[in-house]
Amino acid sequence: MIKYVSCGEIPANKHVAVEGSVKGKILREELISTRGFSGIFSTKYHVHIPSGYSNLKVLQRPLIKLNDNIPKQYYHLLTNQLQVRGNFIENRVLLFQNDDVSISTIKITENYEKLFKNASQNELYFIHKGQGLIRTDYGNLKFKEGDYVVIPKSTIYQFHFELENNLETKIFLVENNEPYMIPKRFRNEFGQLNEVAPYCERDFQVPKYDDVIMEGDAEIIVKTGEVLTSYHLNNHPFDVVGWDGYLYPFTFHIDKFKPIVGKIHLPPPVHVFLENSSSVVCNFVPRLFDWHDNAIPAPYYHSNVDSDEVIYYAKGDFMSRKGISEGSVTLHPMGLPHGPQPGKQEESIGKKETVEYAIMVDTFRSLMSSNYIKDITDQDYSNSWSV
Ligand SMILES: [Fe+2]
Repeated sequence: MIKYVSCGEIPANKHVAVEGSVKGKILREELISTRGFSGIFSTKYHVHIPSGYSNLKVLQRPLIKLNDNIPKQYYHLLTNQLQVRGNFIENRVLLFQNDDVSISTIKITENYEKLFKNASQNELYFIHKGQGLIRTDYGNLKFKEGDYVVIPKSTIYQFHFELENNLETKIFLVENNEPYMIPKRFRNEFGQLNEVAPYCERDFQVPKYDDVIMEGDAEIIVKTGEVLTSYHLNNHPFDVVGWDGYLYPFTFHIDKFKPIVGKIHLPPPVHVFLENSSSVVCNFVPRLFDWHDNAIPAPYYHSNVDSDEVIYYAKGDFMSRKGISEGSVTLHPMGLPHGPQPGKQEESIGKKETVEYAIMVDTFRSLMSSNYIKDITDQDYSNSWSV
């Protein structure tokens, strides 16, 4: 996705018999293919055959109700008020969803020992609070506060959060049918990130091997839509001795994002981090404000008629909104103009910089809300533009 990566031991030729480190046993090649062998892919080399399983069991879960006639109004959700506790699989609290995208927050209080795979969606985790290690069938990645952890559909993994001393964890999660890609305008004709991109190849961390599990079996939970299925795998999937390709999980720290600023207010596309055909992900990070003598740093009012706009507020004082706190989520739906609340434009005039951190997801189809938002909705927000 970002660049070609080769990790561990890979044979000199594809698709031929190669003896691995176990004498007399050939390596088992597995192609992880996207778009029916036409998209990006990686090739893994297992010690054992990767396809055997038994004990298939569908796990019972509470029913998530979606409200598909969500009124067109501004929403502010106080996600830190959610009282749910548990692991990162069963404890994801779905807030909004459409046919392409699911948006959730997760507070993790327990690690989960079984392996996990999201078989139907790509996952983009923003680590608001917490740190630890993610072990995957591509190798391991460390993560810390402010990291994105981006995991392609069907990656097998295990999150290990450091939970000692009541270390807080909080995650903003976007699941999407399509992988998030680097915008084409950030690449030259050869695929290299160009000099106007707000980041470069060095800013992305790719998996590293610390250990290969040569023998043993494993339990895995597979998520398909909202259904969780448990399987027993005959061979542990972390028996990969090497892989190469363009498809793999990675991390990116939000402080690596170099904001683009201008003499007058620049529109949201300058904040775009990753995109696909159904949505974009933008970073609002500390930056200098516009320097025109009469500049208004806060945004102008806008009707983005093809997007529902979701923002997760991570840190700092968000310059265009009142009443927002860390962990807040807002939704400004297509069909209603939005912008700063009364007084916020005037307040921004003459300011030199902002220290805000926020993640914006613009979806190109309307979102439905889940039954979880009822108890955490700030009832005053919708009317806070009335003067
Ligand atoms: Fe907006």
